[in-house]
Amino acid sequence: MTPRTPKIPHGGDYNPEQWPEEVWDEDHRLFTRAGIDTLTVGVFSWSLTQPAEDTYDFTVLDRVLDRAAAEDRRVCLATGTAAVPPWLAKKYPEVNRTDFEGRRHRYGRRHNFCPGSPAYRRLSTALAGRLAERYADHPALLAWHVNNEYGGACYCDLCADAFRAWLRGRHGTLDALNEAWWTTFWSHRYTDWDQIEPPSALTEHWRGPDHTAFQGITLDHHRFTTDALLGCFLAEKEAIRAHDPDTPVTTNFMGTYRPLDYHRWAPHLDFASWDSYPPLDAPPTVPALAHDLMRGLKDGAPFWLMEQTPSTTACRDVNPLRRPGELRLATFQAVAHGADAALYFQMRASRGACEKYHGAVIGHAGRDDTRVFGEVAALGEELRTLGGATLGARTPARTALLFDWDSWWALEISDGPSRLVRYQDTVHTYYRAAREAGADVDVVPVTADLSAYDVVLAPVLHLVKGDLAPCLEAVAARGGTVLATFLSGRADEHDRAFPTDVPGPLAPLMGVRVDEWDARPADVVHPVRLDGLTAGARLVFEIVRLAGAEPAGTYGADFYAGTPAVTRHRFGAGEAWYVATALDPPGVDHVVRRVLARHGLLGPYAGHPGLETAARVAPDGTRLLFLLNHSTEPARPTARDTVTDLLTGKRTERGEPLGLDPLGVAVLRLE
Ligand code: GLA
Ligand code: ZN
Repeated sequence: MTPRTPKIPHGGDYNPEQWPEEVWDEDHRLFTRAGIDTLTVGVFSWSLTQPAEDTYDFTVLDRVLDRAAAEDRRVCLATGTAAVPPWLAKKYPEVNRTDFEGRRHRYGRRHNFCPGSPAYRRLSTALAGRLAERYADHPALLAWHVNNEYGGACYCDLCADAFRAWLRGRHGTLDALNEAWWTTFWSHRYTDWDQIEPPSALTEHWRGPDHTAFQGITLDHHRFTTDALLGCFLAEKEAIRAHDPDTPVTTNFMGTYRPLDYHRWAPHLDFASWDSYPPLDAPPTVPALAHDLMRGLKDGAPFWLMEQTPSTTACRDVNPLRRPGELRLATFQAVAHGADAALYFQMRASRGACEKYHGAVIGHAGRDDTRVFGEVAALGEELRTLGGATLGARTPARTALLFDWDSWWALEISDGPSRLVRYQDTVHTYYRAAREAGADVDVVPVTADLSAYDVVLAPVLHLVKGDLAPCLEAVAARGGTVLATFLSGRADEHDRAFPTDVPGPLAPLMGVRVDEWDARPADVVHPVRLDGLTAGARLVFEIVRLAGAEPAGTYGADFYAGTPAVTRHRFGAGEAWYVATALDPPGVDHVVRRVLARHGLLGPYAGHPGLETAARVAPDGTRLLFLLNHSTEPARPTARDTVTDLLTGKRTERGEPLGLDPLGVAVLRLE
C-alpha cells in the first residue's frame, strides 16, 4: 500500500529545525513556487525531540507539521532514530557499535547504534511510539519513515550472543550447524554454542570482510545482521502501529546495497522506498537496475524515490554536477520504472557540517533564480501536469532477472576461482543487454513466482536453494527460456559445493557438465565465436562438456579452443542457455537478443542507442510508454501506435516521428 496521493509527491528531506522560523516563511514561499507538496521531516532530530532521557519536547516538530498542514503540504514523518543523541551514548555506552576490528566506538557520526543494545531498542521504540501517539491523526501525515538507510554491523558481546541465539533458531542443533559450516575442515567442530564467535578481523577473516576461512559462517552472519537491523525496524513499526493502525510505513533503502538482504525485509514494509545516488559516469541502466530491484520488493507495486540530489553529492572525493536536464531525465526514469514519488535530499542546504556543499533545492543564499531551483520548479510544474496518470501503474514485464543476495555474498567471499568476478557487474551486464534491447525487466528474488515470464535471466546464481531448479525447469518446459552463466549452481544455501557435476541442480536443465575452469587476470581476453560475431571473454573460462546441449559459441584460444563457451539446450517446449565465461557487452547483447527475439521481446527501438523505453499499465488499463533520450543528440523515433504525450498534450499518429530533445522525455499514452 503505497500512500494514496492525487499526484506524484514532489519534495524531500527538510530540516527547518536548523533555522529560525523567519527562514521557514521563505522556505514555504519557495516551495509553492517549485511545486513542492511533500516534506520528509525529523530524520535527524532525536536530540531536539528528546534532549534528555525523561524529557520529550515536540515544540519544533509540532510547528513544522502544523505549518506544513497550513500550507497544504504533506509530511513523510521520520522517527529520527538513525543518529543517537550524545546523552544517550554517554549514559548507555553499549549503544555505540563495536567494529569489525573489535574496537568499541565512542560517540560520533550517525547510523551508529548497536542493533542488539537493549537501551537503543527501548529508547528508539519509545520515541517512535511517542511520535505516533502525537501525530497519527495529524492532517499533514502521509507516511512513516523509520530510521534512515539502515546498514552496517556490530561485533559487540551483546551482538555475539544474539548471533548465537539466531544460529540456534536457524540450525537447531550443533550437529546441524557443524554439518552446514563444514567445520571438520581446520578443526572447527563446535561442542558448545558459546564457542561460536562472529566472523571478524579477530576471528575468521583476514584482508577485510571478503576474506573468510569459513564462507558458511560469514554467510550466516550477513543473514543475521540483516535480521538484527530488521528487528530494530519491526520494533519501531510495532510501536507506531500501537497508535496508528494504517498510515503506510517504510524505511529508505539504498538500491543494490550489499550488506542487507532487502528481500528479507520486503514483506515487512508497507511500501518500498530508496535513495538514488548513482555515480554520474554510470550508464543509465545502473540506477534503472536498482529501480527495478526496488519495484521487485513488493511484487511490482510502485515504490518511492525517497532521495536523490537535485544537483551534486558531497560524500565523494569528486562530486560532479548534474548537467542541465539530467535531473529531469533521472526523475522521469524513476517514474518510468515504477516510482510513485519524486523526492530530493535536500530542500535547503545545511550551513555547517559535512553536507554543507551537498546540492539542495534552495542553496545557502536562499535564491529562487538559480539554475537548480529553476529545473526543480519546472519539474514541479510537469508533475502537476501529469497528475495521477502514472500512480499505481504496473510494469508489464515478460522478462525476469533473478537477484539473490546470498549468491552475491557467496560469490564475493569465495576463495577461488577469481576475486575479479563481481556480482553486480555481471548482473548489470545482462540487465543492460535486456533493457537496451527494449525489454521491460522485473528484478525479482529467487523465490518469486516465475509463471508469468517468458524469459528468466539468472546470471552468476552461485547458490541454488529450495525448489528453484524445478521452478526454472518448469519455465523452460512450458516454452520459456532460462539463461544461466558461469559460476552458477555451484553451492547450496550453506555454500557447500554440490556433490554432483557442475552446474549442480541446474545441470539437467542446462544440458552441460563442467569439470574444470580457468581463471585469468583481467587483461587476458580470449575470443569467443558467436554466430558471425567474435566477442571477447575474460576472468573465468569454464570448460564445458555437452550433455544434451548444443554449442552456440566456442572459445578461440588456449587448450580449450574449439570447445563450447555458450550453449543452448532444448528442454520441453523451451530452451536453456548457458554462458560459461564473462563475455564482453557485445557478446552478452548478442546472446540476450537471440533469447529475447525467440519470444518477440525485442523492443521497437532496440536499434536506437541511448533511447530507453519503459512501459507501465495504469490501474484503469491505460497503457503508458516512457521514452527517455539519454543521448545528447536529438532523437526522432517513429511512433508505433497513435500516442498522446501527457507532458505536452501533443498527439502523434502511428508511423509519424516523435521528436525528442537531447536528454528529452516523453510520457506517452497509447490509444
Ligand atoms: C543519504 C542520507 C541523507 C544524506 C544523503 C546525502 O541518502 O539518507 O541523510 O546524507 O545521503 O547524499
Ligand atoms: Zn552490538
